Amino acid sequence: MNKTVLITGASQGIGKETALLFAQKGYDVVLAARNSEPLNAVANEIKNLGRQSLAIPTDISDIEQVKALVESAIATYGNIDVLINNAGICMTAPMVNTTLDDWHKIIDINIWGYIHLIHTLLPHLLDRKSGTIVNVGSIGGKMPLPNMTAYCTSKYAIAGLTETLRLELEPKGIRVCAVHPSATDSDFLERAIFRGDSEDETQKQRQQMHTFLKSPLASKPQDVAKEIWNIVQHPKMESIVGSGIFPATMYRFVPGLTDWLFKRATG
Ligand SMILES: NC(=O)c1ccc[n+]([C@@H]2O[C@H](COP(=O)([O-])OP(=O)(O)OC[C@H]3O[C@@H](n4cnc5c(N)ncnc54)[C@H](OP(=O)(O)O)[C@@H]3O)[C@@H](O)[C@H]2O)c1
Repeated sequence: MNKTVLITGASQGIGKETALLFAQKGYDVVLAARNSEPLNAVANEIKNLGRQSLAIPTDISDIEQVKALVESAIATYGNIDVLINNAGICMTAPMVNTTLDDWHKIIDINIWGYIHLIHTLLPHLLDRKSGTIVNVGSIGGKMPLPNMTAYCTSKYAIAGLTETLRLELEPKGIRVCAVHPSATDSDFLERAIFRGDSEDETQKQRQQMHTFLKSPLASKPQDVAKEIWNIVQHPKMESIVGSGIFPATMYRFVPGLTDWLFKRATG
């Protein structure tokens, strides 16, 4: 029986590159995201690689849709070996401009979405006493980033979810690990929320983020996909991908100094 991976946010960016890489390595792939057209395009690319895939339009913030996704995946392939919780959205705004609707949206997708997948798939993994859960977090879950309170809150939650759940599930044969990307040149900004004090300020925030994602400091989605593949192959608790590894490591040991340097660097 082939191994099977279920990937959320598989229609573009990191999720898409991860889906193609796992297919190249011989996995059957279950693809989830909300919009069917780009999802089907990835399914076709996988078919051209000579592998099977199942594309299921799913909003991960809706538990009923997640249950239907997991049910069809297991009915089709019989087993799911790897879950990659990847679908997420970005937000940049000072706290005062972050509406409660924004908070709900970020938390519903970036936290509840991950919990929905784990909660629904866990009985299957426990029955089989095997499996790997990879949570795609962010550098923003390892160190604070200015004006990204909602996003960082969601990603710190994912770091906590991963580290705590690992203690519980590893003795039961299930690996839980995290890959934390730094800025990555995907189409992340398509869904990102920006809220400045004025329209000009909002555009400026968007432009700054765009410039950073296009800079040589940013990773490529393929770099993150490779690290997701590596962490599934080799026992490792977490991995930070890209240029954020230096400030994040520094923040862990000398948070005050890192904060000070970061403030000076970002003005
Ligand atoms: N790019 C970066 O700089 C960066 C840095 C650090 C961490 N990350 C993390 O890496 C992960 C992937 O990011 P990316 O850059 O590849 O993003 P991306 O290019 O924007 O892709 C996001 C994917 O998630 C899907 N998605 C969004 N909301 C969804 C929902 N409610 N239900 C199901 N699918 C949903 C999108 O498709 P639909 O809209 O069709 O649903 C799309 O397939 C995210 O968790 C992100 O936080 C990214």
